[in-house]
Amino acid sequence: MPGKNTKEHYRSICREIRRHNHLYHTLDAPEISDAEYDRLFKELLDIEQRHPELITPDSPSHQVGAPIAEKFSPARHAIPMLSLKNVKSEEEFREFDTSLRKTFLAREEEIDYVCEMKLDGVAVELTYRHGRLTSASTRGDGLVGEEITENIRTIASIPNNLSAPAPELLDIRGEIFIQLEEFRKLNRVQEEKGERTFANPRNAAAGSLRQLDAAVTAQRPLAIFCYGNGRWSDASHGTQLEALQKMADLGLPVNLEETVKVRGTEGVIDHFHKLLKRRDSLPFEIDGMVVKVNDISLQSELGELSRTPRWAVAFKFPPRQETTVVERVGLQVGRTGAITPVAHLHPVNVSGVTVSRASLHNWDEIARLNLHVGDHVVVERAGDVIPDVVRVLVEKRTGLEQPIPMPQTCPECGGEVLKKPDEVVPRCANPHCPAQTVERIKHFVSRNAMDIEGLGARQLSQLISLGKVETIADLYRLTKEDLFDMERMGDVLAEKLLNAIEQSKKQPLSRFLFGLGIRHVGAHTARTLARRFDSIETLAESDIESLKAIHEIGDKVAESLADFFGDPAQLMLLQQLHRLGVNPAPERVVQQGGSLSGKTVVITGTLEQIPRKEAEELVERLGGRASGSVSKKTDYVVAGPGAGSKLAKAEKLGIEILTEEAFLAMTGEEPT
Ligand code: IVH
Repeated sequence: MPGKNTKEHYRSICREIRRHNHLYHTLDAPEISDAEYDRLFKELLDIEQRHPELITPDSPSHQVGAPIAEKFSPARHAIPMLSLKNVKSEEEFREFDTSLRKTFLAREEEIDYVCEMKLDGVAVELTYRHGRLTSASTRGDGLVGEEITENIRTIASIPNNLSAPAPELLDIRGEIFIQLEEFRKLNRVQEEKGERTFANPRNAAAGSLRQLDAAVTAQRPLAIFCYGNGRWSDASHGTQLEALQKMADLGLPVNLEETVKVRGTEGVIDHFHKLLKRRDSLPFEIDGMVVKVNDISLQSELGELSRTPRWAVAFKFPPRQETTVVERVGLQVGRTGAITPVAHLHPVNVSGVTVSRASLHNWDEIARLNLHVGDHVVVERAGDVIPDVVRVLVEKRTGLEQPIPMPQTCPECGGEVLKKPDEVVPRCANPHCPAQTVERIKHFVSRNAMDIEGLGARQLSQLISLGKVETIADLYRLTKEDLFDMERMGDVLAEKLLNAIEQSKKQPLSRFLFGLGIRHVGAHTARTLARRFDSIETLAESDIESLKAIHEIGDKVAESLADFFGDPAQLMLLQQLHRLGVNPAPERVVQQGGSLSGKTVVITGTLEQIPRKEAEELVERLGGRASGSVSKKTDYVVAGPGAGSKLAKAEKLGIEILTEEAFLAMTGEEPT
């Protein structure tokens, strides 16, 4: 009989796991690392093994994930979506292989395995009927997930229609993820908007996928790799590798280049080490390798347990976590005045990389972590993403730890700090704050803005501290003599730099606009504006109502533009730039009264003559608007091969449908 303590301990572990499931799956805000969760879960399984009489039907060991959130409709998986058992060492993998061969298959011969990358994202199921995507759902608890079809349809790489010949019915399983580069961009945009940043790419993918408004999902850089299937009518593949190849042939994204067939344990272990070495140089985050028995008939022979198949296992990488101490918290002032707290850590080696700083994002995050200076903390490194403080080891507190108050004045200029109620970040309200100036100039010269080569952060900091540059306009006043005061600056290099600065005067208007760092005006918005206005002057003169009337320009952007152009200091800067010869080139001008003037056009399916992007640009150049979704307001739908739900909707609404040829004839563009 289990003692009272064991019983209570068991219940408390169940409660803890349920809470962490909810935090992870429903709120996308985990409080503990995967490794800690695994430890907790293992403890639960150990108790259940020793005291099966304690097991309740709702034990977390009977569930794969967390219950579904209330806001989406439930979607039952026709075949349950299983999870994977983890192995964490060579030894554990050898045990797994031995048990397959000796216990279940009674064979001496080595097994052929397929090794796939284990992407760290969100598992989804896509159902295709007669080759058409009809529904999509998250995994949920493995039996019932959330219906997210509309959100899935916004992901460009997921085909609405499979290439022929498609099976009558096909359930595809895959992992939705965000590439590291895109993740960093997304967080920059979020920060810029004063919205919450994501702790890691997985949370960003989960949060983006579970948006009630599919238009928000559409703006997030989601990608997918398909790795498995549920129902597959008339399936004829004999191996996992063949199944993956077929999925790729159907037009589904499959990570085939990174999937290898190996023989036996040595083959698996050898590949594991190769992959582990490449972990930090991959464009996305993986947390291990999935090893699957290749032969489907062997898979069937091995069968499945309630939560996991016997024929596959997740060979996990060591967690990139360590504990260290927060020595102090520094404050960083960005170009928009946003003040970000940064933890300065006692340097610690986290799987090969020394970590000494971690962004704390904002004071909400500090409160959530209950973080104090002097705390022992767990830090985690995901790819080359800036490390994150995962949690505080409260049990190590000495009582000497100090709270981290929100600053009342700017740490750089002493100016007033304001925090808007709808934003999570406090901002320095002084537009002339020197820290903001440095960041603004850095942004102006950066690759996606004016792209002045040879003027990196190091060179700029020198020019600023030498007093040669205080504003963007000063860049265009620099002389060779000024540059000679810089370190390691010879005649040739100075000449080159001056030339690059000179060249930038003719950069397109969109780059100049983006470079000005107007709040809420990112690269995309800058391009939209540059297509409407032929110069910065005409934009500056335009009133707030006409700005709001532009498609894709919302209230926030319009107000921010009005604030910017209403600021005498900014107007003076623009005048100075103009006088110094900075004359951004107008974008391809929109033809007034062009053949698509005032028309809304949706392009769907694959175009064969010109790339879709070019077709959309063509629409805009001819005065029309290229839209992503069909509505009553749509004038034309250009449908190429593979057009799916958009075409169907257009037919239903009676909208004029054009072939690619008819569209090109209408625009007067010659097919190539
Ligand atoms: S196979 C029965 N393959 O890892 C097979 N899963 O804990 C179950 N994952 O829920 C999954 N990459 O979210 C499989 N190549 C891959 C995977 C993969 C990532 C995720 C997936 C799954 C979890 C297993």
